[in-house]
Amino acid sequence: METLQCIAERRSIRRFTDAEVSNEQLKQLMEAARLAPSWANTQCWEFIVVRDPAIKEKLAATMPEGNPARKAAINAPVLLVACGRLEKSGFYKGQPATSKGDNWYLYDVGLATQNISLAAHALGLGSVILGLFDADRAGEILDLPEKVKVVTMMPIGVPAKTGKMPPRKPLCEFVFKDRYEKAWVSGDEKNLCFVEE
Ligand SMILES: Cc1cc2nc3c(=O)[nH]c(=O)nc-3n(C[C@H](O)[C@H](O)[C@H](O)COP(=O)(O)O)c2cc1C
Repeated sequence: METLQCIAERRSIRRFTDAEVSNEQLKQLMEAARLAPSWANTQCWEFIVVRDPAIKEKLAATMPEGNPARKAAINAPVLLVACGRLEKSGFYKGQPATSKGDNWYLYDVGLATQNISLAAHALGLGSVILGLFDADRAGEILDLPEKVKVVTMMPIGVPAKTGKMPPRKPLCEFVFKDRYEKAWVSGDEKNLCFVEE
């Protein structure tokens, strides 16, 4: 599948068929994560493939009832838990190298999970990235060591239903020219103009 088409077509999927996700498919998704860029190639990501229904139930219980993907965490054949090892990303010689301290691991795990969601779409699978849950409780359920933190969970399966794209902001609201608040473009998607000097 062409890259830009894959980016445009990918949607968050919260309903799945009963079809299994094979270990071969999962291996392809993990390869996609493996190839993601990371701070000084530190690759701080670690993943847990959860298929056990009892563990999926416990992890879903860390989400508030209002999380629209709570059921998906139970019903998807695979609940992938994306974790990050602390004190790697953003560090140089054991010390934080930037004012962002030990937050870069979130970024690197985010890049890896975006690769996974695009690769899943290219393979005909669906996924959704979940952030609204008690990550500390999820870490306890999974027996994580102290320096490994749960970042997101991703139910993965064969989509039962694909939704429409939720609306996106137009470029004129978030791309600036030279300095903040200097417009780079004006108009909407259909009538986009580059702003002249
Ligand atoms: C960091 C992050 C956390 C998210 N957390 C949740 C969540 O807890 N529950 C949920 O249903 N969707 C969650 N989503 C999915 C977003 O709602 C979704 O990506 C957004 O509405 C855009 O829709 P699309 O992915 O189909 O383009 C999350 C997405 C991201 C990137």
